[in-house]
Amino acid sequence: MRIIRVADLQPGYVVGRALLDDKGQILLQRGVTLSENYIQALKAKGYTRLFVQDTEVDDDTPPEEDISPATRALATQTVKKSFEEIEKQFSAVKKQSHDDILRACNSDNARVLMSDRGPLARIDEVITSILGEVLSRSTLAGLTSIKSADSQLYDHSVDVCVVAIMIGRTVNLSNDRLRQLAAGCLLHDIGMVFVESNLDRLNMIRHHTRLGYELLKNGGDPDLLAPHVAYEHHERQDGGGLPRGLRSGNRLQRDRSLPPPIPTLIGEIAAVADAYDNLLSGGPNNDGLTPDAALMSIRKAAGPHLNKEVVEAFLRVTPVYPVGTEIIVRSEQLHNYTGVVREVNPDQLDRPVISLLRNNHGKPIAPIEVNLVEQTSMTIRCRGL
Ligand SMILES: [Fe+2]
Repeated sequence: MRIIRVADLQPGYVVGRALLDDKGQILLQRGVTLSENYIQALKAKGYTRLFVQDTEVDDDTPPEEDISPATRALATQTVKKSFEEIEKQFSAVKKQSHDDILRACNSDNARVLMSDRGPLARIDEVITSILGEVLSRSTLAGLTSIKSADSQLYDHSVDVCVVAIMIGRTVNLSNDRLRQLAAGCLLHDIGMVFVESNLDRLNMIRHHTRLGYELLKNGGDPDLLAPHVAYEHHERQDGGGLPRGLRSGNRLQRDRSLPPPIPTLIGEIAAVADAYDNLLSGGPNNDGLTPDAALMSIRKAAGPHLNKEVVEAFLRVTPVYPVGTEIIVRSEQLHNYTGVVREVNPDQLDRPVISLLRNNHGKPIAPIEVNLVEQTSMTIRCRGL
């Protein structure tokens, strides 16, 4: 089983893991042989990746997922419904001035919408399910979800939530904080519902963070930190972020010597999870990075941009070569042989068990299984996704 780009699919490939839409309905069953029509339909819906079976290998069990398909569908649906309902309620205001939108965010109407009588009523239930499943894992699966163009924003919110919970557990957040972190992540981009797509990038970031915060702070409990995740997820440690240019100290401990307001730790955890998922998923004009390249990028951003100690925690639970990714050998022995990651070694997240399936000329070979913990001289890279 491996994950490949939809652009590289060919008729005859066999679906390795059932593909579900954002309602949890099966679009493509596991085991279906792809025809040209199926491939075109996937492209039309904006899917960029798919799991396919390796015909060369007998043991072709699908890689584990961070959360079950049922929980993912419930989460995506709940986030989607909330965003759509809020967008509908504010559709007239969206065209008005920034101040008008701010006023609308703080209106009685908004308060009812954000209360537990509104579309967010099921968020608590979603958080309980996601927490239960993620906290039972020792590491992340390391792959972002497979997103269609329509579901990108909602799937991204759920993926950020999953990654952030894992980091939060690693830095020993209390259960209450984990719930706030999860709620904040599921809704961190809710301000996007107000943002006109013709805004430039900086204004887009500035507006969606501030407006998301203004809306979420009406959600009830005044102590709730979740709205700060929406407010702060584009801030930087060096003060160069948006919307407020807050400075922070690259530590888990809050640095009280810095000028207030001091950013929240859950906001900084969400920033790491958000950056990682954006790197993996890509955007309208790029396909996204391979997992090893995405981690390299996160390491580089630690310090000036992302909180160093949060990144360290993140790296302790994120495999460099997730199960199902295609890899290529870069060291001398078996140079340019290609294969797929079979198993992650939880103690050495950069040294997985791999199966080599093709030689350096691209010809299929009898699979060679290599445990990189034992073969210390072999180096690998992910192949382009
Ligand atoms: Fe954002």
